[in-house]
This record gives sequence, C-alpha cells and structure tokens, in this order.
Amino acid sequence: MPLVPMRQMLDEAAKGGYGVGAFNVNNMEQIQAIMEAAKATKSPVVIQASRGARKYSNDKFLYHLMLAAAELYPEIPMALHLDHGNSFETCKSAIELGFTSVMIDGSLADDGKTPSTFEYNVEVTKKVVDFAHERGVSVEGEIGTLGGIEDGHGAGGTGLEHLTDPEQAVEFVQKTGVDALAVAIGTSHGAYKFTSKPTEEVLKISLIAEIHKRLPTTHLVMHGSSSVPKELQDVVNQFGGKLKPTWGVPVEEIQNGIKHGVRKINVDTDSRLAITGAIRKVFAETPEKFDPRDYLKPAREAMQKVVAERMTQFGQAGHAGDYKAMSLEEMRGYYKRGSGCGGGGCCGCGSKKK
Ligand code: G3H
Ligand code: 13P
Ligand code: ZN
Repeated sequence: MPLVPMRQMLDEAAKGGYGVGAFNVNNMEQIQAIMEAAKATKSPVVIQASRGARKYSNDKFLYHLMLAAAELYPEIPMALHLDHGNSFETCKSAIELGFTSVMIDGSLADDGKTPSTFEYNVEVTKKVVDFAHERGVSVEGEIGTLGGIEDGHGAGGTGLEHLTDPEQAVEFVQKTGVDALAVAIGTSHGAYKFTSKPTEEVLKISLIAEIHKRLPTTHLVMHGSSSVPKELQDVVNQFGGKLKPTWGVPVEEIQNGIKHGVRKINVDTDSRLAITGAIRKVFAETPEKFDPRDYLKPAREAMQKVVAERMTQFGQAGHAGDYKAMSLEEMRGYYKRGSGCGGGGCCGCGSKKK
C-alpha cells in the first residue's frame, strides 16, 4: 500500500474506537520489526522519525526504507510521520521528502526546550497546516508541554507544570485546523517518567476526558506513552545495564485514554529497552560473537514482540484491511472542500471560517 495520510488512519481509528501506535525508528531493523508486527497482527501503523532520527540515518535512507516497506507489505496501511518538528522549515523539508504527516511542536520554541507562548504556537502551527494541507499532508500540533528533558525534548520538570488547558485546546484547534492534537497530561519522554506506579495525581487521564468532551472529533495524541515494563528493565539490568527503578504509563491507562478520544499513542522507549536488552544478552552470553547479525536479529525480534503486544493492546490489530489508502491528492481535495478543520465545520471543533 502506498504511504497513507495519517488523518485518514486516525479518522478510521475514531470510527472503530481504537488507538494506533506511533513507533519511532532510526534504522532498517526497527522498520522491519514494526512491519513484521503489523503483518502478524494485521495492524495499520504510524512510523515516525524525530529530527534526531532524520539526522542519524540521513532521512533519504529512512524514506526509501519506508518505500521498500510499502512495497513488501502491500496489505498494511502505514503513515510516515515527523515526530516533534521544531519549526516550519523542519516540517517543510519532511513534507518535500515525502512524509505523509508532520508534527509541529509549537508548544516549545524552536530549541525544543523552552516553553513558547500560545500566540507563537498558533502562528507557527497554522503556517505548517496551510502548507501541509495544500499538499494533502496531515498535521499534529501540541498544546501544553511534556515533562522531562532526558532525550533533549520537553520543558523539564515532572510534566505537571504545563498541563493542557481544555479551553485553550479548543481555541487552538479552531485557530489552527490541526488534524491531531498532542496533549500534556503528566507524561514525559524516556525511561524515567514516574517514581512509583502512577496514580491520577501524576497521570491526569481525566484531563483527556475533559478535552475530548469539548473536542469530540479531534484526534488526541499521547506522547511519552511507553510502559517501561519491569521485564524489559530486568533484561537490561541482568546483563550489565544500569537502569534505576522506574515506572512508565500503564497500558490500562492508555486504554482508558483511547476510550476518551486518544487515537495516536507514541512509543519509543519500550522499543529501545527491548533492543538494548536483547543485544546485552548476546554480548554477555556469547562474548565470542562479533557478526552484527548475531545481535541485531534478536534485537529486531525483541522489538517486534513489544510492538505487536502494543498493537493488540491499543486495538489497532485486525484493522489493516478496513480501508483503501487515500492519495495525498485525494486528501488535498478533502481539505479544499473544508472537510478537515480550518473552518469547514465538520471536524466538530465548532470553527466556522468566514
Ligand atoms: O520524542 C522523543 C522520541 O523518543 C525521539 O527521540 O529525539 O532521541 O530521536 P530522539
Ligand atoms: P516514550 O519515551 O515514552 O517512548 O515516548 C515517545 C514519544 O513520545 C515520541 O514522540
Ligand atoms: Zn513525543
């Protein structure tokens, strides 16, 4: 199947009442792990690359690996998404390369760290939406900021400092016309999210319900959604790793979010842990080995396992065959007719373009 616009995928997920995992990639093995998991579970999937991933891989390599995936897995709808675009230029270059979806994270300034103003966020997001929709490409915006700064993203802190304000979320969607909205509910990127199993005190799932009530047809996105399972931590530590005790976002909380409008769930850390644990195990148990395939194959399998598990848990499993991919040209027509927000009235945000 050709690369699918993310908007179509999330519209379908909303119809079916399920969530779609968005998994980060940097290389061939990660793309293969996700595609094999999608095939085994018959799942549509979002594959996403951060700025760091684009730089690490040289994004032309990533893009062509994605074309290979589309050719090899014609039955799987997949969207290629830019994760945490920091500026209009970053989003523009991804769109020009062939990404079918971009995130503009205007909740932070273009350094990816400093919380920005609401006005700046609206302005930069609207500029990206206009450019992207003209080309049929989907856009995710963010309102409120995530905690932590471990991986270079986020405003620092616990994640509770800049939670999404539901009223502001409505104004943001009306003014920008984004297809999907990332919300800040207390999560952060990386392995160290919570110091014990999170309760509503630190992980505000109820905020999702509140936002969803006001924006019933806006696709909500949960970032920092790795569950950081103890089993994966244990493998890393058993074979020489030094992870401190930590808790991620419990899968049942994500499932609760999905019941209240979460349609895209971002996962990177769980894949990283699975890969690292598998590689450490090979190094520790068979130190005589030096063929990269001897450790990359188990690493790929370990990532495939955790991704397939999430696909089943998020509910996307079994939905790969539900629809035919829309082309970017068709999506362009959809936006032109005013079907996407931007004031057409059909996304439910209440906006009416004059
Ligand atoms: O947004 C966070 C993702 O885990 C990507 O991380 O910027 O280190 O590639 P990265
Ligand atoms: P995790 O670090 O929880 O996997 O979050 C990834 C993410 O939100 C990417 O944008
Ligand atoms: Zn994120």
